Amino acid sequence: MEYSIKTGDLTKQRTACLILGVFAKRQLSPSALLVDKASKGHLKEILKRGDMNGESGQQLMLYDVPGIQAERVLLLGLGKASELNRKRYMKALTASIKSLNDGHAIEAVWGLCDVAVSNIPEAGIVRETIVQSEESLYQFAETKSTVKKRQRPLKRLAVWLADRRQLKTAQKGLQQGKAIAKGIKLTKDLGNLPGNYCTPTYLADQAKKLGRSHAKLKVQVLEEKQMEKLGMGALLSVSRGSRQPAKLIIMNYQGGKADAKPVVLVGKGLTFDAGGISLKPAAAMDEMKYDMCGGASVFGTMMACLEMDLPINLIGVVPSSENLPDGDANKPGDVVTSMSGQTIEVLNTDAEGRLILCDALTYSERFNPATVIDIATLTGACIVALGNQASGLMANNEALAEELLDAGSSCGDRAWQLPLWDEYQEQLDSNFADMANIGGKGAGTITAACFLSRYTKKFKWAHLDIAGTAWRSGAAKGATGRPVPLLTRFLMGRCGL
Ligand code: BES
Ligand code: MN
Ligand code: ZN
Repeated sequence: MEYSIKTGDLTKQRTACLILGVFAKRQLSPSALLVDKASKGHLKEILKRGDMNGESGQQLMLYDVPGIQAERVLLLGLGKASELNRKRYMKALTASIKSLNDGHAIEAVWGLCDVAVSNIPEAGIVRETIVQSEESLYQFAETKSTVKKRQRPLKRLAVWLADRRQLKTAQKGLQQGKAIAKGIKLTKDLGNLPGNYCTPTYLADQAKKLGRSHAKLKVQVLEEKQMEKLGMGALLSVSRGSRQPAKLIIMNYQGGKADAKPVVLVGKGLTFDAGGISLKPAAAMDEMKYDMCGGASVFGTMMACLEMDLPINLIGVVPSSENLPDGDANKPGDVVTSMSGQTIEVLNTDAEGRLILCDALTYSERFNPATVIDIATLTGACIVALGNQASGLMANNEALAEELLDAGSSCGDRAWQLPLWDEYQEQLDSNFADMANIGGKGAGTITAACFLSRYTKKFKWAHLDIAGTAWRSGAAKGATGRPVPLLTRFLMGRCGL
């Protein structure tokens, strides 16, 4: 969809549909008051008839409102003004975008950017509005032979601002919103693509394609032979059961000063996780195509940064493999040697994410990073602990953890910190290797992070377990694009934005 910013007299906007807010008890928002005045009380008059009282979720379409240039006015219920938060604002936005897209108008003016939303900063409202608008229009159709065409889809949305002085900030917000939305879309598309399309080779090709389209991005893909030379025995042990060759994808974006230390994002790119010899149960196993969503979020965040031309050095590292049972696959009890030299007893072949990540993390040392963040659909235990609301966050540096938590809550893509205390480390003790790849009963999300912490001693590091947040199950099954909003917010913060 196309977006633009409009200022000037709201009542003179020539548009197919003007979207306005109504608070509880029929209280008009500031922009709705302007329209009411121009129409000599028409809005208040209609509301009095009782069709709408302003409760959150309500919608009322009005035609031929006198005194204004818009053909229609769509009133959205927002609930109590003092209780308006991100969730309610986004709910109203999503509902109106969807219903306009289903019919009515092909373009509209969004007149709700002047309402105060408790957990959206004023300067970010345009950006967040665009991100959510794109979110609500998203459809995955790549693997359908026919797509239902809409008769009159919504094509253009103008965001109206009361104050001309906000124009510059709003224009920036618009660009940022479009960039972040584009990153989220890429992450969703890659996540939703099934395992027979989205293989490690496919991901590597997508990275190369991204590299060709942006001058500041260099892409390198390491093949199994090269990984062998580097001693990546943990990563390679996972792909032994697969006919698809593993890839280590490296995307290097030089947007900052040549000598500025880079932020490195390491994303789990397991394109299908059957569990290997420790085979998973059949129910919902299809969802293990999403086991590359950490990697996909690195792609999406990279895309957003490229689109924003962020002045930062950012490196994306995506170890990619399948995890399948096979005569040559990893077996429980096998001992493998990681690139770091540490040996690992593979007690459960389904704990494969940490095996591919540990070598990618060791590899990241060579970039002399300012910070390393890994993102992974790592443990089912994280869903037990936090459900689908928050990503699990663990870090070896408190300031970094705080920075990520803040980034997440300021854009509604929240994380919640779990402890990474030394006491948990002993759960990884092994009789036959330096460590086991599982920590036994209890604190599965934390022991997975403990495992990774043994490969991240040389830099500031944080780990995001996105098992519960990267996709939705059930009727609305699909990738969410999380945590691209959190990561881009974090990187923008590092650029002073
Ligand atoms: N990809 C899974 C984690 C997962 C499971 C994500 C369910 C989302 C939904 C990971 O590779 C895995 O299998 N982890 C095991 C670890 C266990 C064997 C210690 C798990 O969580 O069961
Ligand atoms: Mn697994
Ligand atoms: Zn996995």
